[in-house]
Amino acid sequence: MEQEYENRTLAILKPDCIEKKIIGRVISRLENEGFEIVAGRVCKLTDKEAEGFYRVHQNKGFFRDLIKFMTSGKVIVLVLQRENAVEKLREVIGATDPAEAKEGTIRREFADNKQNNIIHASDSPENAKKEISFFFPGYILI
Ligand code: CMP
Repeated sequence: MEQEYENRTLAILKPDCIEKKIIGRVISRLENEGFEIVAGRVCKLTDKEAEGFYRVHQNKGFFRDLIKFMTSGKVIVLVLQRENAVEKLREVIGATDPAEAKEGTIRREFADNKQNNIIHASDSPENAKKEISFFFPGYILI
């Protein structure tokens, strides 16, 4: 069972991704890297949902702006599956700041800045499990 969690991660295509009409291009990149979409939701986050999801950042200076941005339009939440999903997705999307992201990564190609950076990805298998449960309650039964 634990093995299954290592193979799944959570991605959020952020409001800037939808606004720029690059959903297809981003998902295509994910598919080309071997990710399979095993669950998905299109939604507009409430302040409460965004604050809950990003609560680890609640004391950071950028928190209020992040909440404003994440609730500014629709997002697409995806559960992605492939071998070593968490690490691989982090590699494919690149660093938080697109200026620091490696050539060929999604954020390097499409993101405008540290905040408007197109896509979120879980940063550890533990957080992937929590984040998947946040958006898909009961999806992973422990
Ligand atoms: P994400 O991977 O979704 O995780 C937290 C988000 O906070 C991050 O992507 C950015 O959108 C945002 N973020 C992180 N660091 C900064 C920063 N220094 N300034 C502004 N926004 C940031």
